[in-house]
Amino acid sequence: MRNYDLDFLKKFSLVILFLMLVTAGLIGLAAWLHGTIPADIPDAVVQQRIDRIAPAGEVYAGSTGAAAQAAAQAAAAAQAASQVAYGGTLDGGVIYQNLCAGCHTSGAGGAPTLDHAHWDARIAQGADTLHRHAIEGFTGAAGVMPARGGNPALTDEQVIASVDWMIENLK
Ligand code: HEC
Repeated sequence: MRNYDLDFLKKFSLVILFLMLVTAGLIGLAAWLHGTIPADIPDAVVQQRIDRIAPAGEVYAGSTGAAAQAAAQAAAAAQAASQVAYGGTLDGGVIYQNLCAGCHTSGAGGAPTLDHAHWDARIAQGADTLHRHAIEGFTGAAGVMPARGGNPALTDEQVIASVDWMIENLK
């Protein structure tokens, strides 16, 4: 090999080495820049994560907590009341089958089943009392009748229609 060939090779290798260093530097810079850009996560995924780590229940403490609890209960009650139960039907039979039957057909929790033996004494109280007990709820010797059968979305008229249907369908 001639002397100037050797010289050329030396310089050429230096240039290659320099370019490799520049390349490595650029790769490093690009990687760093990429890390500084915030990840683009869709809102739906963010919401899913928030839902997943949301507390299962809420804790209300102190007087502010009591106020927050009362507000939450009022909101829940208002929401339930704004929904129309069973399409707003006044067909007592439909409401009975969907709700009241859960207790009054099986007699669960001491609920009077639809027969005269269970109802004649109750009917003797008068229809108004029965309506009121069904709307407001009633705790008697047999057990607990929840207000509106446990569905606050039922209107007074719907509860009355269900009571009347029950009385008409005693065996
Ligand atoms: C969670 C069970 C349960 C459900 C659901 C339920 N009831 Fe009752 N109900 C009872 C029990 C228990 C009694 C008996 C209470 C007692 O006399 O001790 C009762 C009693 C009654 C009485 C008689 C009250 C009285 O003064 O003697 C009426 C009327 C009545 N229910 C209507 C209804 C209607 C209408 C529905 C549906 C909208 C309904 N119930 C849903 C449990 C239930």
